[in-house]
Amino acid sequence: MSKMPKDFLWGGALAAHQFEGGWNKGGKGPSVVDVMTAGAHGVPRKITDTIEEAQFYPNHEAIDFYHRYKEDIALFAEMGLKCLRTSIGWSRIFPKGDELEPNEEGLQFYDKVFDELLKYGIQPVITLSHFEMPLHLAREYGGFRNRKVVDCFVRFAEVCFRRYKDKVKYWMTFNEINNQMDVSGPLFLWTNSGVTVKEGENAKEVMYQTAHHELVASALAVSIGKKINPDFQIGAMVSHIPIYPYSSNPEDVMLAEEEMRQRYFFPDIQVRGFYPKYALKEFEREGYSITFEPGDEEILKNGTVDYLGFSYYMSTTVKSDVTNNNAGDIINGGLPNAVENPYIKASDWGWSIDPTGLRYVLNRLYDRYQIPLFIVENGFGAIDTVEADGSIHDRERIEYLKAHIEALEKAVTYDGVGLIGYTPWGIIDIVSFTTGEMKKRYGMIYVDRDNEGNGSMNRSKKDSFYWYKEVIKSNGEKL
Ligand code: BG6
Repeated sequence: MSKMPKDFLWGGALAAHQFEGGWNKGGKGPSVVDVMTAGAHGVPRKITDTIEEAQFYPNHEAIDFYHRYKEDIALFAEMGLKCLRTSIGWSRIFPKGDELEPNEEGLQFYDKVFDELLKYGIQPVITLSHFEMPLHLAREYGGFRNRKVVDCFVRFAEVCFRRYKDKVKYWMTFNEINNQMDVSGPLFLWTNSGVTVKEGENAKEVMYQTAHHELVASALAVSIGKKINPDFQIGAMVSHIPIYPYSSNPEDVMLAEEEMRQRYFFPDIQVRGFYPKYALKEFEREGYSITFEPGDEEILKNGTVDYLGFSYYMSTTVKSDVTNNNAGDIINGGLPNAVENPYIKASDWGWSIDPTGLRYVLNRLYDRYQIPLFIVENGFGAIDTVEADGSIHDRERIEYLKAHIEALEKAVTYDGVGLIGYTPWGIIDIVSFTTGEMKKRYGMIYVDRDNEGNGSMNRSKKDSFYWYKEVIKSNGEKL
């Protein structure tokens, strides 16, 4: 079998709010995650009105990369990372979001981080908005349901593009923009878009209007970015959980096909530049009134992305004669007909482990869009045990990653999929997004901190650290 491309970007992925800490340092304003408490598997995180003294907010200090970035980046360099995917905390740059001038201290922080990465030859891969909208935009404007927020985002994007134009080549506009298709709880609309659904509103309709604004904002950012630096590669980013039919029953097959539109809706527009017919039919059928301003269609057409970044963790399965299964929780995207897949095991958090699904989605996405793909998240959240001598034998994590790398290598070398790189999630232990826990660890570098915020914050290398170092060194040959 032929080898992986020489310039393949092996890296690691993180998001500002989950690892930086320093939530109120350097002029940073609060973001939508700064009012989220810790939850657990099956216990949702609370979104509080204000920052309450008595509550613990795990993202406030996170793993304190804000003060330890040199030490952490030295470890990433030792591992041999070729790129680091992270995000820019929007409220570090625009503390409230609606200012006209950026916060210089916030900009300087990312200058320092990017310079430090580049010093070691690690390319920053940057998401502009990874669940970090300034809280003020959510509270005072209603988040992206309000068209004015489009301008705020575009201003933020432009400032970042100009400031870092010689330091960053790969960008993404919004992280997992499609999470909000699941409106069964408050989490995703809040973190994606700073939106809360009011009583009496149709959540899906609110979501589609919000989505439209975000799609316009993303397209405008792409167009502006390409003018600032034509060499920029600006991508979309979606969570891509394939939805399998439970059986060969044509009803199951068609149901899965239809539900996959939840995954395709955003990239269909961001890659192709226009709304797919199935969405327009849905608006018509459901009586949704979505406001398009004059010129929006042109904006979408002109702002298509260069590549599609996506996260892949698991797959879901649906069955047509099941209509109200308890499995319809956030893991299964709120799908009421989700069932367990008898062929697949799951992690302690109920996330199914399906490496073949990765090859499957790489093929489906590449066939559908014919643009380069980038796996910008994949990984195994698990509890780690620190041995008496301080070593951490995370065999399960290595097995998970190994199987997924095998699958992606097959997609590239056998199927011919165009893939830019692979950045496993949470390369260093960070705060979990869905649960706010520390014990759900993805890292290859361990951080001594627990769910309640206790611990020395010391870093140490897990077995996976040494293993991944060899994977990178051998360009994916030695797994
Ligand atoms: C993705 C997000 O949904 O999955 C990340 O982009 C998140 O922010 C990751 O951390 C893993 O989810 P969790 O809940 O296990 O941290």
